[in-house]
Amino acid sequence: MSGDAKYERLRMRFERSLTEVCDREMQQFPSLLEESMRYSLFAGGKRLRPVLFLGTLDALGKDPTDEPLLAVAIECIHTYSLIHDDLPAMDNDDFRRGKPSNHKVFGEANAVLAGDGLLSFAFSLLLKASVDEAHRSAAELLTEAAGCAGMIAGQSVELTFGAQTGGTQAALERIARCKTGAMIAAPCAMAAALTGDDVAGWKLFGETLGMLFQTTDDLLDYESGEDDGKPTAVSVYGLMGAQNKAEEYALRCTELLGRLRGETAFHRDLIQSVLRRTD
Ligand code: IPE
Ligand code: IPE
Ligand code: MG
Repeated sequence: MSGDAKYERLRMRFERSLTEVCDREMQQFPSLLEESMRYSLFAGGKRLRPVLFLGTLDALGKDPTDEPLLAVAIECIHTYSLIHDDLPAMDNDDFRRGKPSNHKVFGEANAVLAGDGLLSFAFSLLLKASVDEAHRSAAELLTEAAGCAGMIAGQSVELTFGAQTGGTQAALERIARCKTGAMIAAPCAMAAALTGDDVAGWKLFGETLGMLFQTTDDLLDYESGEDDGKPTAVSVYGLMGAQNKAEEYALRCTELLGRLRGETAFHRDLIQSVLRRTD
């Protein structure tokens, strides 16, 4: 994924925006809070969601450097979700992005606040960016994706699913669509909203890419021996079944992309990179 030249260019642009926005907007934050928020924000994430946002703007003919606040808001919400996801009360993961997770460094209470801080920071950036109707629509798409019919819904349903043994395919798909699909669909849909393009079509493409992403995530976790008892594509479909499922999602993504307008070579390459990713 990160080996692709176009991805790398967009990622570098995003890194610049993230540094600038944080330097400018975080000045009043208490130093420990700022430190803990920055620790996770700059811990080496792949930046898939903001890169997808910039890449989709580009595909639809808009300068990707035009929307730094929205791009940063997307990554702040994603990073907050990971900090909270790793907490002992959730997945209890000691490592994230190859480094000790936020609560291992700053303690649980500070990690809760770092997550809360990133989420509310994102909302303030979205409001600052809401200069017209198109930007308000983009902000609404992101808040919906982050919320109780999106990412939080997925996390919640997964908790109740965890109490059962085995699992049904429909429940697994619902979890993946919400917890991962929504936040990968949002950047595509936001770019479409900002360019007056097909929001529903781009959202469906992004959601399907998110399902592919979660399936390859489950395969990578399986390969590295990580099994925390949660339902995964491998536990529900078996190893070969999960590999086939990933191929199916990749095909479906390509098919959906074919129905969309714009210069979508970047997206076509991205589908293959997500299918074959190793991190
Ligand atoms: C991890 O997302 C959580 C999932 C939704 C599977 P990423 O793999 O995109 O995490 P970073 O941002 O690169 O660390
Ligand atoms: C994380 O999903 C999804 C969100 C934070 C919304 P997972 O728990 O499956 O991903 P990892 O393995 O922690 O990255
Ligand atoms: Mg987790």
